[in-house]
Amino acid sequence: MANHAIYIQRYPNGKHAVSPCCIADNSEPTNQPINFNTDPYLNEIKEALRNGIQHPACHQCWKLEEKGGESRRLHANDSHQGIAQDGLMAIDYNVLPICNAKCIICNPTFSSIWATDTGAWEIKDIVKTNHDHLEGLDLSKIVRIYFNGGEPLLTDEHLVLLRKVNNAGVSYNTNGSCYPSDEAIKLWKKQKYVYLGFSIDAVGENFNRIRERLDWDQVSNNILKIHQELDVGIECSFTLGGHNVYDLEPTIEWFSQIIDVKKHFHVHYVNPGHELYFDNFKDRHDEFRKELEKFREFHWCDAMINALQ
Ligand SMILES: C[S@@+](CC[C@H](N)C(=O)[O-])C[C@H]1O[C@@H](n2cnc3c(N)ncnc32)[C@H](O)[C@@H]1O
Ligand code: SF4
Repeated sequence: MANHAIYIQRYPNGKHAVSPCCIADNSEPTNQPINFNTDPYLNEIKEALRNGIQHPACHQCWKLEEKGGESRRLHANDSHQGIAQDGLMAIDYNVLPICNAKCIICNPTFSSIWATDTGAWEIKDIVKTNHDHLEGLDLSKIVRIYFNGGEPLLTDEHLVLLRKVNNAGVSYNTNGSCYPSDEAIKLWKKQKYVYLGFSIDAVGENFNRIRERLDWDQVSNNILKIHQELDVGIECSFTLGGHNVYDLEPTIEWFSQIIDVKKHFHVHYVNPGHELYFDNFKDRHDEFRKELEKFREFHWCDAMINALQ
């Protein structure tokens, strides 16, 4: 996997870091152009893997594999089996943290509104228009790109990459408030497929409360318009915490009008450590479990119930 994939994370100061995937530890942030073949941090990890050494950057996978679990590393190795040549084939790209929302689950690393409201950064330090760090990447073999952020449809970083990529599978995590630009739609037409994963974790007033600064009427109309007008796949990515267990049902119901929710409605929980993670709602775990039992036929149900104690 490390021989074919890169994760790129941009930070509020315009610097970026790299790693083999989104759960490995990142390199030290830098302004230097990215070179997939010669990057010393990536090469150190590739070399260790080649020699059967457990590089500490991949500690989350080693821990899971020790317990007999199926790590992201094992999954990726399976899907890359039979690929003889080396070279960059997959990119996970977290664009600059430019965002029009201040969701209650998020923080200054991903949202410019959080960053400026907390005084962590000034907007002039966050917004960058040059993306020279991408210049040296050989994109000729790319088969998959995943954009996250920040709000990827608010920056032009995805366009910078897609202008040089053809016939790839492209997916996004987006907050649903932005209709894609004409250029994005044109560039999507030359890709193998495009999926938009909408991060929606309530409908109506509850959505407005969780996704501060966004408006459910605008976002829901935008998603319906995209569904009607564009040839893209649609998914929902619901972030579950103690604040929105009862919002699952109405959100699934809303999405069932446009997608097969058993396949394309995904749920992950708020990161442990966040104040809205289940640990801070221990006195309500029994009632949460009862509510979550309703979703037994969904692939994410066990993982969510197991997060309760
Ligand atoms: C940081 S956002 C960036 C992309 C885009 N702005 C969006 O909201 O989809 C990526 C995903 O992380 C989720 N997220 C935000 N804060 C989180 C947290 N504390 N724990 C787990 N997921 C979180 C969001 O709900 C979203 O699905
Ligand atoms: S829309 Fe995404 S990046 Fe923006 S604040 Fe919400 S979760 Fe964070």
